[in-house]
Amino acid sequence: MHEPDGPGRDAGPVIALVPAAGRGVRLGADAPKAFVPIGGVPMLGLAVSGLMAAGVVDEIIVMVPAQLVEATAALLPPAAPARIVAGGAERTDSVRAGLANAGDAAYVLVHDAARALTPPTLIARVVAELRAGHRAVVPALPVVDTVKTVDSAGVVTGTPDRSALRAVQTPQGFAADVLRSAYEHPEAATDDAGLVERLGIGVRTITGDPLAFKITTPLDLRLAEAVLDGKQVVGRC
Ligand code: CTP
Ligand code: MG
Repeated sequence: MHEPDGPGRDAGPVIALVPAAGRGVRLGADAPKAFVPIGGVPMLGLAVSGLMAAGVVDEIIVMVPAQLVEATAALLPPAAPARIVAGGAERTDSVRAGLANAGDAAYVLVHDAARALTPPTLIARVVAELRAGHRAVVPALPVVDTVKTVDSAGVVTGTPDRSALRAVQTPQGFAADVLRSAYEHPEAATDDAGLVERLGIGVRTITGDPLAFKITTPLDLRLAEAVLDGKQVVGRC
């Protein structure tokens, strides 16, 4: 078992960085993905609302395409404790830009705008683990498909043991000094924990939530619309 070894309870503010500067090539919508609405609200607005509803985040920094910095404030929930900064060409560049603005954070969450339906309870669980002293915490779920490794010609080279595989989600939470050290290295990674692992720091997984799925393709967008529709119907009952 990985024992807590971080700064501990009540060490200081939690700042959430929300990467929202991607183009959304796989979604193929007219607007950058984070600005595509679900149930009439842009994904970025839903993600920020979820962070506020968790009740554990002191400040939110959203990273958007440079040309949308000024237009973004109107798309966020009223009274959101948010700052808006320009992201970069790769997700790693966007997170680095956010981190540069997170000066007084004790803990940093990195939470994709594209995981717009993430339950606030999951966000609160990640922060609780950080406050308990764990320095890097990621939500993770078992992988449902069998996964293969392949060579450049597409020929299978191996079948990793599925029981040891996990699909990771966001928010990923870190003691601020840990994430800062990870980002001193120039490599890119598809998740922030990947950079922390390279420092040799233990990354704790907690049970993720299916609703924290990343909206990547048109089918994901339809699923998200259906989930929100269902919630509104339940809410009316
Ligand atoms: N992101 C970012 N800056 C980038 C690239 C991605 O802030 N240069 C953000 C996206 O806006 C998204 C999150 O990182 O909220 C996860 O990335 P992904 O799902 O890959 O989104 P996109 O890069 O927008 O999509 P695609 O890869 O299909 O173009
Ligand atoms: Mg991308």
